[in-house]
Amino acid sequence: MSDPRIIGYLGRAITHEFSAAQQYLAQSRLVALWGMEAQSADFRKDAHEEMGHADLLIARMLHHGSVPGGSQLAPVRVGRSLADLLMQNRAMELDAIRLYEEAMIYCQRRRAMEDAQLFEHILNDEIAHVREIDAKMAELTGRGQASG
Ligand SMILES: [Fe+2]
Ligand SMILES: [Fe+2]
Repeated sequence: MSDPRIIGYLGRAITHEFSAAQQYLAQSRLVALWGMEAQSADFRKDAHEEMGHADLLIARMLHHGSVPGGSQLAPVRVGRSLADLLMQNRAMELDAIRLYEEAMIYCQRRRAMEDAQLFEHILNDEIAHVREIDAKMAELTGRGQASG
């Protein structure tokens, strides 16, 4: 029988991923309104990547004989500038990193290695997301300084 705590982590992770996808889709549309087409495409790509994570987690949930039932999505966090959005996203990605680290460590202890590997794989993607956000924030700051 599957460990209910692992099912719990999978459920929380699915809710996170759909919340992240909703946030990135909303921000993609918002920055398009601001005339930032390239950034809009970047956020859209991020949304699809988060949905890919949800897909992997759903597959794992079914493997355990459970039906995925993501619960209430987190409210979309926006702002008045691209810098605001990036800060919101950074906080969201850090929450995901904490969740995936905890889930991975628990699964490793329980010797649930396939679950641990999935959580580790997604964890590494979320760490990469934070690095991308940091690079973008640094670029924005650099531009701000360059323009005065
Ligand atoms: Fe994700
Ligand atoms: Fe992410």
